[in-house]
Amino acid sequence: MRIAIIGAGNVGGGLGKAFTGAGHDVVFGVRDPESTKTLSALADIPAATAASPSEAVDGADVIVFALRPAAINATLADLPPLDGRIVIDAMNRFDGEPARSTTQDLADRLPGAKLAKAFNTIGFENLSTASQRETRAAMFVAGDDPDAKRVAMQLASEIGFLAEDAGGLANAKPLEEMVKVWLALTQAHGRGIGFAISRS
Ligand SMILES: NC(=O)c1ccc[n+]([C@@H]2O[C@H](COP(=O)([O-])OP(=O)(O)OC[C@H]3O[C@@H](n4cnc5c(N)ncnc54)[C@H](OP(=O)(O)O)[C@@H]3O)[C@@H](O)[C@H]2O)c1
Repeated sequence: MRIAIIGAGNVGGGLGKAFTGAGHDVVFGVRDPESTKTLSALADIPAATAASPSEAVDGADVIVFALRPAAINATLADLPPLDGRIVIDAMNRFDGEPARSTTQDLADRLPGAKLAKAFNTIGFENLSTASQRETRAAMFVAGDDPDAKRVAMQLASEIGFLAEDAGGLANAKPLEEMVKVWLALTQAHGRGIGFAISRS
């Protein structure tokens, strides 16, 4: 698939490396192709390219948002309508208006998009190394649209996670809240940890 990743920072770069490793084409949508973060991501992923966000989404099968939340509105203002397009939100909001999920921002501004929440419940360092873990980490995927959820779960699985259906988009904010627990657990266990499901 052709995947547009909007934002080429820690999360965008980690996902870009993972998706290209799984055989997908990645184009980063960035405000500045010469920014330190963009150049660092491109140096790490020779197969990826960078363009403006509106150029990146053109022809993309999947669009993944990995921006700082403060950049969402300005970035969306420059994008064409994404009606019918699969959009995955990998962001979290802990500043500004923390009770509002970044997914709600996308849902409000992109009412015709097929939206899912994923890739937000683990530290960025683990996104491109998931397939190397002894015990696979869970990746929770929330969404109301079956196509978006299926594609997000497929991508999570392809890059080495155990994709878990975490319910509808109403669970987007609870998934963001889980990151606070993940961060607390890193104090004792380090940032290499991931959530897992234990079955009886
Ligand atoms: N860090 C983690 O471990 C982690 C894990 C899961 C989810 N998340 C969430 O994922 C999101 C991204 O986190 P990150 O760690 O990847 O952040 P980051 O490394 O700071 O990258 C943020 C990206 O947003 C862009 N950006 C920032 N301000 C902008 C603006 N005003 N206009 C346009 N673009 C702007 C940056 O572009 P420039 O290069 O031009 O500055 C960069 O591409 C956050 O919501 C975070 O909570 C983080």
